[in-house]
Amino acid sequence: MNYIEKIRNILQDRFTETPKANVVTFGCAQNENDSEKIRGLLSHIGYSITDSIESSDMVVYNTCAIRENAELKIFGNIGKLKALKAANPNMIVAVCGCMVMQQHIVDKIKKSYPFVDIVFGVNNLEVLPQLMCDRYTQDKKQILSPIDKTDIVEDFPILRSGKSKASISIMFGCDNFCSYCIVPYVRGRERSRKPQDIMAEFRQLIADGYKDITLLGQNVNSYGKNLEEKIDFADLLQMLCTVPGEYVIHFMSSHPKDINKKVIDVIRDNPQISRQIHLPVQAGNDRVLKEMNRRYTIGQYMDIINYARQQIEDVSFSSDIIVGFPGETYEEYLDTEKLVKDVRFTQLFTYIYSPRTGTKAADMEDNISYKEKTVWLNRLIKIQQNIVFEHLNSYIGKTVTALVEEKYEDGSYTARLSNTFVVKFNSDSDFTDQFVKLKITGKKGTSLTAELLK
Ligand code: SAH
Ligand code: SF4
Ligand code: F3S
Repeated sequence: MNYIEKIRNILQDRFTETPKANVVTFGCAQNENDSEKIRGLLSHIGYSITDSIESSDMVVYNTCAIRENAELKIFGNIGKLKALKAANPNMIVAVCGCMVMQQHIVDKIKKSYPFVDIVFGVNNLEVLPQLMCDRYTQDKKQILSPIDKTDIVEDFPILRSGKSKASISIMFGCDNFCSYCIVPYVRGRERSRKPQDIMAEFRQLIADGYKDITLLGQNVNSYGKNLEEKIDFADLLQMLCTVPGEYVIHFMSSHPKDINKKVIDVIRDNPQISRQIHLPVQAGNDRVLKEMNRRYTIGQYMDIINYARQQIEDVSFSSDIIVGFPGETYEEYLDTEKLVKDVRFTQLFTYIYSPRTGTKAADMEDNISYKEKTVWLNRLIKIQQNIVFEHLNSYIGKTVTALVEEKYEDGSYTARLSNTFVVKFNSDSDFTDQFVKLKITGKKGTSLTAELLK
């Protein structure tokens, strides 16, 4: 609070108009949730938040380290700030997030991007006001090396981007150390927020009119493990569902080794919980899964899918898949194709394996060329496209509930089903951010078309 007052005074001295800040997210939903907190903090300090980089006095890049192409894209974007900063010397450039939790990246920024003023990581967003003060008063760059910090700061101001959709981080970090993944190294050890704090945030969102809430964690199914209180993810879901109101709850990500029948039963018994479950499988072959340190077999994965199908009417699954993990053979890749055809996911996020410095897989032998892996990826994408078309077709004639997202000038709307399919319909009245009942009439491209019922 001390630093917030200080920085407010500095800004008053330096700016005649309200200063503007731009916060850009390059990573996942958790990263975007962090960006909302950074915007909340900057807005609390007195900045007006803008989408335009050119007119900003403060630019924050919230970065991601998950794959090499994410990092390359971010460096490209940081590079572009050089000219903007030359045109506006008052501009402060801050880089935070997962990518700068790696010392070699911080060193590279220091060496090759000297116009970057501030660097801080992921678990200490609250240091930003102090770094800004020091940057202004000492006229010296504030580049923090990665800090391993595990306590959770509650009551952070948060400026949410959506009016009907919002996310709640229920836990931070990851302890799983999948052999390809950088997240445990950059986000630190797993820790859960207290259920009372999550409940309070959830109640407030519902009271504020939010209707689509996503609970976030790298592995939500291990929620509660480090808490004194005896509570697991199924208990938390059940508790949130006691809050009255019209809303839908999503959660991500689930880890197949930790999701259990109790969670499926809670979903079954609470219609407010989305009927689409995100269950990243990563690969369709048991040897590859073992090398990935995923700690489940395809048999176990299918057992939980089949149990959910027995228990929950209309359940569907989305997933993440990596092709070309070191040592994966063509035959083993074909097992992934088979799995995708068997499960018929409604949504699939597919990636080519990217070696990450410091992870176990980065030292494994990798004999398949990038070109070959691209062929595999494209085959998988094609298979999945056909599956999505079949899913879309199966909706024609059905009545559905969807949350309206956007209204266009010609009176048309887009709405979203809880499995993320987009539905287009027309109406003269305003239904933005409300649930509507629709009858699906057809398919257009990758969306559905519908008539409004209610
Ligand atoms: N905690 C989540 C995943 C977070 S990262 C989970 O376990 O499901 C999101 C996805 O990125 C992963 O599911 C994986 O498919 C992909 N991914 C992670 N590391 C990767 C790497 N090194 N190369 C390619 N894809 C990767
Ligand atoms: Fe990465 Fe595995 Fe943790 Fe997901 S569960 S964040 S893939 S280490
Ligand atoms: Fe998310 Fe990227 Fe970090 S996927 S957790 S922002 S490495």
